[in-house]
Amino acid sequence: MILHVNTNEAGYDIVLERNALASAGKYFNLDRKVIVITDSGVPAQYALAIKTQCKACEIYTLPQGEQSKSIENYTRVLSFLVKEGLTRTDCIVAVGGGVVGDFAGFVASTYMRGIDFYNVPTTLLSQLDSSIGGKVAIDFDGVKNIVGAFYQPKCVLIDPDTLKTLDKRQIHAGLCEAIKMSATSDKDLFELIENSKDLDKDIDKIIEGGLRIKKDVVEKDPKEKGLRRVLNFGHTIGHGIESRYGLGKYLHGECVGMGMLPMCSSEAKERIKALLTKYSIPLCENVSAEEIMEYVKRDKKTTGDQINIIYVEKIGSFEERRIPVSQMEEYIKRGL
Ligand SMILES: NC(=O)c1ccc[n+]([C@@H]2O[C@H](COP(=O)([O-])OP(=O)(O)OC[C@H]3O[C@@H](n4cnc5c(N)ncnc54)[C@H](O)[C@@H]3O)[C@@H](O)[C@H]2O)c1
Repeated sequence: MILHVNTNEAGYDIVLERNALASAGKYFNLDRKVIVITDSGVPAQYALAIKTQCKACEIYTLPQGEQSKSIENYTRVLSFLVKEGLTRTDCIVAVGGGVVGDFAGFVASTYMRGIDFYNVPTTLLSQLDSSIGGKVAIDFDGVKNIVGAFYQPKCVLIDPDTLKTLDKRQIHAGLCEAIKMSATSDKDLFELIENSKDLDKDIDKIIEGGLRIKKDVVEKDPKEKGLRRVLNFGHTIGHGIESRYGLGKYLHGECVGMGMLPMCSSEAKERIKALLTKYSIPLCENVSAEEIMEYVKRDKKTTGDQINIIYVEKIGSFEERRIPVSQMEEYIKRGL
């Protein structure tokens, strides 16, 4: 299946296909110098599958983990590209999860004022969410994604077979992003996840459903000026939980999962909660609304004493509300 994402420029294709890695050369122009950026947790066979299809290719492997999205690694990779003599007509291919995609995309966006970038996402989160939309970034001074750009890939190649090596917890955390998108925008997709008896069998359809929602949103709002805020459903409180309790304990997707619960009606909440339980997503225990509020107040969606939230009354639809920050604490106490 190929989905075309329209942008201000030529746009790009997302190819979703089993065993797609073996035919990367069909979709990417690999007839030039190629630098594959991956990380140490991604099975090496995926980067090698790209390398074997290239005329001239080097693989750069980052240590796995969020801490790799650093300014130090950024300058190291730039030095590597200069040493390799990468030119404006050469390209970078990211092979890995959201960390590798965000990092490699940011390198590509700045090296020689921007060179071609291809993305091969290999986690569920990156396949249905982070690889499309053009947001690329590194972390700086302890703040996630604070240095970045909007920079579109030339093509995204999604091979669901790569999920076979990803551990279940990562898959379920990625699934929270699909639950998030479907809860606000696609009740059929939500029901598919609810009724699924075999996630491996249904995963292609779930990825496709998530991609279609995200494509629609990023085409209408490429630079996150309005509609794209819907993708933040669950994120304000999720980031609060992640910052206060998450590091080393919960994965990002798990925090988003918990963060959705206070932001919906009791009917929607029961259905989302049942899904989180079905997929072993931890639910908040002993979480202090007051402590989470400290982080919520610093959230970029807070302006003055008001905050914008995405609220789901009925699965498959959403409304944007602007509420006093003080009211947020009530939502958290009621919802978690
Ligand atoms: N750009 C965006 O729009 C956007 C959206 C959401 C999240 N993000 C970013 O994405 C990042 C999180 O991405 P993630 O959840 O993919 O985490 P990740 O990239 O850290 O990957 C998770 C772990 O899985 C390993 N891995 C990757 N693919 C594998 C495979 N097929 N088999 C076995 N192991 C594999 C990685 O080495 C890593 O240890 C964060 O930095 C976040 O800020 C970006």
